[in-house]
Amino acid sequence: MWHGICAVVLAAGLGVQATFVHPGIIFTSDHIETIRENALSGNEPWASSYAALVSNTRSSSSYVVEGGGAIIGENSGNDTIDAWTTAWVNDCYAAWLNSLRYVIDLDDAHAITVAGIADAWSGNLTGVLANNNLPTALNGRQLVNAAELVYYTRGSWPSGSSKYARLQAMVSNVLVPNKDPIANPPTQPVVGGNQAALSHIAGMEFAIFTNNVTGFQAELDILLLPKTACVGYDGSGFQALIQNKTGQCAEAGRDQGHSADEVGWLEEGARVAANQGYTSLFDLESQDGLGTPLLMLGLEYYFKYNTGSDVPFDTTWGPCCCGTILYDQISNKSRSTAYPIGEIAYNYYITEGTGKYSMPYTKMWLETNRPLDTSTNLRDFLVYPTLTWADSVV
Ligand SMILES: *[C@@H]1O[C@H](CO)[C@@H](O)[C@H](O)[C@H]1NC(C)=O
Ligand SMILES: *[C@@H]1O[C@H](CO)[C@@H](O)[C@H](O)[C@H]1NC(C)=O
Ligand SMILES: *[C@@H]1O[C@H](CO)[C@@H](O)[C@H](O)[C@H]1NC(C)=O
Ligand SMILES: *[C@@H]1O[C@H](CO)[C@@H](O)[C@H](O)[C@H]1NC(C)=O
Ligand SMILES: *[C@@H]1O[C@H](CO)[C@@H](O)[C@H](O)[C@H]1NC(C)=O
Repeated sequence: MWHGICAVVLAAGLGVQATFVHPGIIFTSDHIETIRENALSGNEPWASSYAALVSNTRSSSSYVVEGGGAIIGENSGNDTIDAWTTAWVNDCYAAWLNSLRYVIDLDDAHAITVAGIADAWSGNLTGVLANNNLPTALNGRQLVNAAELVYYTRGSWPSGSSKYARLQAMVSNVLVPNKDPIANPPTQPVVGGNQAALSHIAGMEFAIFTNNVTGFQAELDILLLPKTACVGYDGSGFQALIQNKTGQCAEAGRDQGHSADEVGWLEEGARVAANQGYTSLFDLESQDGLGTPLLMLGLEYYFKYNTGSDVPFDTTWGPCCCGTILYDQISNKSRSTAYPIGEIAYNYYITEGTGKYSMPYTKMWLETNRPLDTSTNLRDFLVYPTLTWADSVV
C-alpha cells in the first residue's frame, strides 16, 4: 500500500551517489503507518487530537483554494500582493492539513485538494518580495511536506507528473532563493538567530523535496556549526541557539514564544535530518559534563521554566541576531503557553531511545498539555504533534 520510492540522484561534480528516503521530510512511511494506526484506534491521546484535525475546516477536502498569485510578501503596501500573501498562508496550511487527513484516511479527495492548491501556486508564483523569509520558509515547508506525503504515499501526483515537476521547479526557483532572512546594511549585518535556523531547516526540506543532495548537506553543515560562527547566515545553528552548559534558549530573555520557536524548530529540523539517516542534530552533545544532547538540554531548560520552575540565566549569552543581543533576566512573557512542541524530541530520545536518558520536564509538559493540537501557531510548526508523535503514555 505504501510506495516508498527512493530517488537515486547524482551529487553534482562529486561523482558520489546519494539516496534520499521518500517520503522523508518530516515523516517516513513507517511514521505514516504508525500515525494511521494510532489515529484510527479510537484510543487516547490520539482520538481527540484526530477529532480536532477532522473538525478543522482547513483539513476538509472541500477547502476552496484561494490562490495562486504571482508575488508574495507581507505588509507590502500593495493590496494585491497582501491578498496573495494571505491566500498563500491559508492555502499552505490547508494543503498540510489535507495531506495529514490523506495519509490517515486514504481518501483520494484529500490528495486531490492538496494537488489543486499546489498546482494553483506552481502555475502562478514567480517572486517573493525581499525580506520575506517567514512566508517563504514557514508556509513553504508546510506545502512541500504536504506534496511529499501525497506523492509518495499515493505513488503519483493527482494531476500528473508534469505538475509535480512544476512544483519542484517553483520550490527551486522561487522559494529556495528567498528562504533566508536578509541583511539591512550598514546598520544590521545578515541576521542569524532562530529566523535563520528556520531558513536552514526549510532549506533541508526543500532540498529533499527537489532531490538536491549538495543543498541538503550544505544546510545540515550550517546547523552543526559552532557558536563562533555567530553573526550571519551561519550564525544560526544549534550551538548558537542553545547555551551548551545550561540549555538556555538564546531568546529566553525576550519572551517564551520566540524561545518555543527556537527549540520547536530545532526538534523538527533534527527529525528531518534523522529521517535521511543523519542523527547528528539530535545527538550533538552539550557541555553539561553529563553528555546530555544539546537539543535535549535546551528543551529541558525551556520546559522547566514553562512548567513553573526557576532556571539559571546567563546574562552574557544571547542570540546572534544583528549582533549579539543580551538580556538582564529571563522573560516571563508567554510563559506556560501551550505551544505545540516537545513531542518529537520525547519520541526520539525516550520512546524510541535506549533508556539512557530521562526528560522529566518535557514529560511534565506533555502530561499537562496533551493533546498539543493548538489553534494558535498555525504557521510556526507542523502542528498536531500529539496525533503524529505521541506514544500512548508519557
Ligand atoms: C501591486 O502589485 C501588482 C503585482 O505586482 C501590480 O500589478 C500592481 O501594479 C501593484 N499596484 C500598485 C498600486 O503598485
Ligand atoms: C493562477 O491563479 C489563478 C487564481 O488567482 C487561478 O485561477 C489559475 O488557475 C492559476 N493558474 C494556474 C496555471 O494554475
Ligand atoms: C540546492 O540547495 C542549495 C542550498 O539550499 C541552494 O543554494 C541551491 O540553489 C539548490 N539548488 C536547487 C536546484 O534548488
Ligand atoms: C560552549 O559555549 C561557550 C559560550 O558560547 C563557548 O565559548 C565554548 O567554546 C563552547 N564549548 C564548546 C566545546 O563548543
Ligand atoms: C511576570 O513577572 C512580573 C513581575 O516580574 C509579574 O508581575 C507578572 O505577573 C508575571 N507574569 C506572568 C505571566 O507570570
